[in-house]
Amino acid sequence: MESRLGGTGPALIPESLGRLKGESLEAIIAGGRVATQMPAFKDTLIAQDIAAVASFITTLLETPPTWTVADIESTRSLDA
Ligand code: HEM
Repeated sequence: MESRLGGTGPALIPESLGRLKGESLEAIIAGGRVATQMPAFKDTLIAQDIAAVASFITTLLETPPTWTVADIESTRSLDA
């Protein structure tokens, strides 16, 4: 997911990661999240790579995401 807005997972942008309190981003990437689809990467990435990924996802996006009321309304449909 190049846009970092999350395919199967949450958006990986500083605005949403900011609420992770006391939890280290690197620990989440290394260990995954128990009982979710979030896999552990500690066996595929070395610590340095995990640190690089953590630093990448805490960098602000060049184009911030927008989601307006009009966007929300355009997803609504009334069936039968
Ligand atoms: C290098 C790739 C990845 C990174 C850096 C990454 C990072 C993260 C982080 C930091 C979180 C916690 C976000 C938060 O609580 O706000 C998270 C959660 C999650 N990730 Fe990933 N992730 C990666 C790959 C994947 C993949 C491949 C999947 C699915 C196949 C996935 C599925 C999920 C899901 C479902 C959650 C939410 C878990 C929950 O409900 O607590 N992630 N990911």
